[in-house]
Amino acid sequence: MNPIFADVPTSVFEVMSRLARETGAVNLGQGFPDDPGPEDVRRKAAEAVVAGWNQYPPMMGLPELRQAIAAHYRHWQSLDLDSDSEVMVTSGATEALAGALLALLEPGDEVVLFEPMYDAYLPLVRRAGGVPRFVTLEPPHFRLSEEALTGAFSEKTKVVLFNNPLNPTATVFGAEDLALLAEFCVRFDAIAVCDEVWEHVVFDGRRHRPLIGFPGMRERTVKIGSAGKIFNLTGWKVGLVCAAPRLMKVLAKAHQYITFTTPPNLQAAVAYGLTKDDAYFEGLRADLQRSRDRFTGGLKDLGFAVIPSQATYFLNIDIAPLGEADDAAFCRRLVVEHGVAAIPVSAFYAAGAVRNVVRFCFAKRDATLDAALERLAGIMRKAA
Ligand SMILES: Cc1ncc(COP(=O)(O)O)c(C=O)c1O
Repeated sequence: MNPIFADVPTSVFEVMSRLARETGAVNLGQGFPDDPGPEDVRRKAAEAVVAGWNQYPPMMGLPELRQAIAAHYRHWQSLDLDSDSEVMVTSGATEALAGALLALLEPGDEVVLFEPMYDAYLPLVRRAGGVPRFVTLEPPHFRLSEEALTGAFSEKTKVVLFNNPLNPTATVFGAEDLALLAEFCVRFDAIAVCDEVWEHVVFDGRRHRPLIGFPGMRERTVKIGSAGKIFNLTGWKVGLVCAAPRLMKVLAKAHQYITFTTPPNLQAAVAYGLTKDDAYFEGLRADLQRSRDRFTGGLKDLGFAVIPSQATYFLNIDIAPLGEADDAAFCRRLVVEHGVAAIPVSAFYAAGAVRNVVRFCFAKRDATLDAALERLAGIMRKAA
C-alpha cells in the first residue's frame, strides 16, 4: 500500500465528530450549516432530476453552467473569462485541487504551502510527487511577509497552493499580501493554485479579490471555487475551475480520468443559482454574519478571547489567556467533559507550530449556538 495514505492518521474532524456522537455533544467541529440551504436552488436540482437529463453531461461541464460561472465572476470579481476555453466544472473543489496537482507537478517539484492549511493539501501534494515548502502564518493576523516567502520559494518551485479566504483562520489576505505573493510567483515562474472556496463567505462589507486578477497572474493561476460553499450546500460537491487555456488543457486531462463528469442535475441548479441578483448573495452572507455575531458576542460575554472572524463558517478563540498550552487536549476535554466539539488549529500545521488556537463552526441555527454557549460557560466556571 502507498504509505502516504496508509500512514495518514484518522483526521481530527472524524475523531471529534465521533466523540460528539458518542457523548451527545453539540458539534461545532466540522464545517457545515445545519440549515437545509436555499429552497429555490434545491427545487431546481429536484426538477432537473425528475424532468432533466440524467446521463453523462459534457466532460467540461454543462455549457449553461460554464457560461454562468464566467458571467458570475465577471460581475463579482471583474474577471474576463472565456467560458469555452477557460472554465471547467469538477466534482467539488477537492477534485479540482487533486486534479491540478496531478496535472501540474512532476516528481521533485517544490510546492509552497501556507500553514495552517486545509487537511487535504499535504497528502495530495506528496502523492503527486511534490516536495512541500512551508510558510508558517502566525496568529492573530496570519499575514504573509517577504522574509517568509523568500525562505520558501526557490528555483524548484513549480506550484504555490494558496487558500484565500483562509480556513481555519477565518482571515482574508489584503491587497498588499496578494501583490507580494503575485510578485514572487512571477519572479520564480510558479503557478498559483488558488483555493477560493470561501470567496462569497466574507463579512463586514468585504469583497473577495482573486489572485488571478493581479499583475502577471492571469496566465499562471488556477482559480478554484465551490458551489457547495457559495450556496451553503456543502454535500453538493460542484467545483468551479478557471484558468488560461494553456493550463486548462492539462487540467481537463486530469479531470477526464478522475471523475470525467459531475452530476448534471446539480450543475443545472448551480447554473440557476449563480445568476441570482446581488441581494440574494448579500442575504446569504448577512445570515451567516448574524450567526457569527451571535456566537462571537456570546463567547466574549463568557470571557473567551475571540480572534475576529472576517470570512468562512468559522471563528477562533485564543486559549492562552485560559492558561491552556495544548489545543488538542483542550478540545478533547471540551467535548468529553463539556459537550461541545471544536477543532484544534494545530491539526492544520504540518509541525503543529501553533497550539493556542481553537476553531468553532458558527454556521448553525441560533438554538444550536445557544446550547453550545450554555455548555461553554461550564469551562469558564471551572477555569475561574
Ligand atoms: C479551504 C477548503 N478547500 C476545499 C474545501 C472542499 O470543497 P468541496 O467540498 O467543494 O470539495 C473546503 C471545505 O471545507 C475548504 O475549507
